[in-house]
Amino acid sequence: MLVNKAIFPVAGLGTRFLPATKAQPKEMLPVVDKPLIQYAVEEAYAAGVREMIFVTGRHKRPIEDHFDMTFELEVALEQAGKAELLEVVRSVKPDDMECIYVRQAQALGLGHAVLCAQRLVGNNPFAVLLADDLMVGEPPVLKQMVDQFADWRASILAVQEVPAEHTRRYGIVAGTQVNDKLMDVSRIVEKPAPEVAPSRLGVAGRYILTPGVFHEIANQPRGVGGEIQLTDGIAGLLRREKVFAYRYDGKRYDCGSKEGFLQANVELAMQHPQLGAGFKEYLKSLEI
Ligand code: UTP
Repeated sequence: MLVNKAIFPVAGLGTRFLPATKAQPKEMLPVVDKPLIQYAVEEAYAAGVREMIFVTGRHKRPIEDHFDMTFELEVALEQAGKAELLEVVRSVKPDDMECIYVRQAQALGLGHAVLCAQRLVGNNPFAVLLADDLMVGEPPVLKQMVDQFADWRASILAVQEVPAEHTRRYGIVAGTQVNDKLMDVSRIVEKPAPEVAPSRLGVAGRYILTPGVFHEIANQPRGVGGEIQLTDGIAGLLRREKVFAYRYDGKRYDCGSKEGFLQANVELAMQHPQLGAGFKEYLKSLEI
């Protein structure tokens, strides 16, 4: 297996989503009927990943509980003959999937969160998925990236074109085009102002990284916002190794923001096999 481990950094404070995130993790906010973290875990599973490493913090216990066995619930559903719901509950954690939790005591930044999982990842390539970026793609976006990794055996960053006025929200990459999907990255900058951004290609919350990045993160000074940035670690890595930016096929919803979260709920509800038809009828009936 090429990429068997994924890190889910879920220790952030979720300030953009207050008050909802005051006492509950933003990764547990449901889009239609599933928490955000489950979408990300399912995407990793579909890409062949079986070892899920969650970097958690205080107030993140519900994430551990979600991927644990809920014995009483399963017994109750079984006794009530609710086989379909029982399957829904059991499928949250397939038997061949392992969940491991490590704490980030202080939210010192995404790079620091990734570094917290270093010992669990060891000398293996690994994926990083930010659950608040909900990705809808066929094949799933991380699977597309794993396929690229199989060809190139180098770090792969998911990128998309972003509006010039939004460059401050992303890591922005520049480099040499290899083909219509792939760029050989020569520069990456965290949250640049539009005037100094080297391009409009922004990194979305999916990465496949080689283990060399740990050393680079550990040796970076604090970056933008006083945080230990993953982007700065990747900037160090690309001085030693090739790093590619991959334009994924699919759609990203920024569910760390209220607007993106609402858009995801509306669009995924419209596509939902059971709810979709009725929900569309309801939307049509609204006066907008
Ligand atoms: P965000 O930039 O979305 O930060 O982090 P945040 O704190 O979660 O949310 P806002 O901006 O305050 O609303 C991107 C991802 O990195 C994780 C977050 O949980 C999120 O999935 N993260 C960030 C950590 O795990 N630890 C950190 O120290 C920072």
